[in-house]
Amino acid sequence: MPGMSADAVTVRPATAVAGTISVPGDKSVSHRYAMLAALADGVSTIEHYSPGADCAATLACLRALGARIRHRAPDVVEVEGRGLRGLQAPAGTLDAANSGTTMRLMAGVLAAHPFRCVLTGDSSLVKRPMRRVIEPLTRMGATIDASDGRPPLVIHGGTLRGISFTPDIPSAQVKSAVLLAGLQGTGRTAILEPARTRDHTERALDAFGVELKRDGSAIAIEGGQSLRARPLQVPGDISSATFWIALAAATPGADIEIHGVGLNPTRTAVLDVLRRVGASIETIAGGTRDGEPVGSIRVRAAERRGFSLQPEEVPAVIDEIPALAAVAALLPAGETMEVDGAGELRVKESDRIAGLARGFRAMGAEVEEFPDGFRLTARPLIGATVDALGDHRLAMAFAIAATGARGPTTITGASAVAVSYPAFFDELDRLAVSGDRR
Ligand code: S3P
Repeated sequence: MPGMSADAVTVRPATAVAGTISVPGDKSVSHRYAMLAALADGVSTIEHYSPGADCAATLACLRALGARIRHRAPDVVEVEGRGLRGLQAPAGTLDAANSGTTMRLMAGVLAAHPFRCVLTGDSSLVKRPMRRVIEPLTRMGATIDASDGRPPLVIHGGTLRGISFTPDIPSAQVKSAVLLAGLQGTGRTAILEPARTRDHTERALDAFGVELKRDGSAIAIEGGQSLRARPLQVPGDISSATFWIALAAATPGADIEIHGVGLNPTRTAVLDVLRRVGASIETIAGGTRDGEPVGSIRVRAAERRGFSLQPEEVPAVIDEIPALAAVAALLPAGETMEVDGAGELRVKESDRIAGLARGFRAMGAEVEEFPDGFRLTARPLIGATVDALGDHRLAMAFAIAATGARGPTTITGASAVAVSYPAFFDELDRLAVSGDRR
């Protein structure tokens, strides 16, 4: 049983890992369904909505903007759409909490509404870079004030015009903000991605009846198209599932099956990486739900060898790097993981390069930090006290590594798992049998 205090969790070594699991609704998809439902005509019901605090922040913002939202069950949300550009000026500041996706996508939504509003977030989010959305949205006709390009954002929305835009960095959030703005603007908005990123916004727009042209990494949308409300079901979050896949891949004799998980090809690159490590990973396609592929994943540990991530692979596994680092920390001593071209990790919910390096070093691994990556060399792990820095993915990564350490590990800042996976530690308790592994 993981020990819990206010914000620290103690994870004990595991002797065996096995079981079947369903993961919470995908965070990225939940945000998009909620926002598009609020801009649609009619009532949409969203099932398996993410239970995390990030997606709750999106609902709170939409409510403050006049969308009527009701929970029919803890993970079933009914959203009464207000139509394109139909949101109302909020009475106060909008709070995106810890959620970068809420802030950046909402900026795209709000840029097209003819009122002033202020969008802020918690102590982590107010440090994160927003110029990447401010710049294109300003080109489209919005006025956005921000000190040093960071939140709070003061958005003066209005009538937007379509632009042709090539983002400097591959970012699904930036692409989505511009698509949401373009949808509500006049004329055509065209985006050329420097590298393919998750395409949930494109698939969701299609599900809501919006026409979109896609050709490789080019996307174009005509403004002014209305959205048709509809029933939707969010697939299980593969980024949450990755922690269980990592646990199974890193634990000799493990066997885990995950059901109802999203298998969108823009999100599954992590499976290929873990196959390179030596894990046996089988995916069983279960069809397409609202345009998103879903299915099951079975993972068994086999060989475990070192691996590296090339810069061009990084955008497709950016959220999975903490879990991959946990797998690396549990490799046979002397094996390494190297990542380059991942400077974006420094501006996530925490500076993930620094946070992973500090935590895994405390547990006995050798970690060399680079400005845009790190090299981790596996050594026998020892239980330690590590700080998740209030970052959900660091907390989960340290917990996975802790199952293979000698002695218990205490993770401070662990309540951050509530951002995407409130039941994470209960599920860990169920899948991993505690005892002395080494
Ligand atoms: C997300 C996109 C990614 C990812 C984030 C969620 C999304 O960020 O890291 O957790 O839902 O669009 P970037 O678009 O900044 O790479």
